[in-house]
Amino acid sequence: MDIHHAIRTRRTIHSFNADKVPEEFLERAIEAANYAPCHRLTFPWRFTKVNRYKREVLVELALDIKFAGRNIDQASKSLIIKKMLNPSHMLVASQVLTNDLKQKMEDYAACACAIQNLSLSLVSDGVGSKWSTGKMISDKRTYEVVGINQIAEEIIGFIWIGYGEIPPKIDRPRISSIFRS
Ligand SMILES: Cc1cc2nc3c(=O)[nH]c(=O)nc-3n(C[C@H](O)[C@H](O)[C@H](O)COP(=O)(O)O)c2cc1C
Repeated sequence: MDIHHAIRTRRTIHSFNADKVPEEFLERAIEAANYAPCHRLTFPWRFTKVNRYKREVLVELALDIKFAGRNIDQASKSLIIKKMLNPSHMLVASQVLTNDLKQKMEDYAACACAIQNLSLSLVSDGVGSKWSTGKMISDKRTYEVVGINQIAEEIIGFIWIGYGEIPPKIDRPRISSIFRS
C-alpha cells in the first residue's frame, strides 16, 4: 500500500470484532516499529504481548478501577469485557526509563514514532489499532499482571489490534492553519 494512503486511512478503532489477525502481520508491525528514529540511538520502545489469561485478569482490574466497589450494571460490564477481550491482540507499549529529563522527553517522542510505524504497518495489511492511555496504564497492578518492572520501564499505552468499525471522519485543521510558508 502507498504510504500516503496508509497515513490517510489509519484511524483509531474503538469497536473491534473478534476476528483474528495473522501473527505475521503483528511481527511485521513490530519490525516497522523498530525502524523508528531515536536520538542517541537509545531504542527506548518495548512491546509486550498480553495473553488471553492476563487480559481476563486485566478485565477484573478495569472493573475495579472504573466502579471502585460500587454495583456494576451488566451493560457497562459487558462493554468493558468486549473492549478488552474482543481485539485480536493486545500489546503494552512501554518506554525504558532514564534519569536524564531531556532524554526522557526525546525517548517518549521516539516511542510515539515507533507506535505510529506499528499502526501504519498494520493499516497496510488491512488491520486496525488503537493506542489508549486510561487510568489502567499507571496502576501498579497492571505492571504486575503484564510483568513489567516499574523501576525500569514506564507503560505509555495499551495497543489494541484487530478488525472493527472505522469511526466517522474527523475534520483536520486546514493546511494554511498549521503550515506557514
Ligand atoms: C498518546 C495518545 C493517547 C491516546 N489515548 C486514547 C485513549 O485513552 N482512549 C481513546 O479512546 N483514544 C485514545 N487515543 C486515540 C485518539 O483519541 C485518536 O487518535 C484521536 O481521536 C484521533 O482519531 P484518529 O486516530 O482516528 O485519527 C490516543 C492517542 C494518542 C496519540
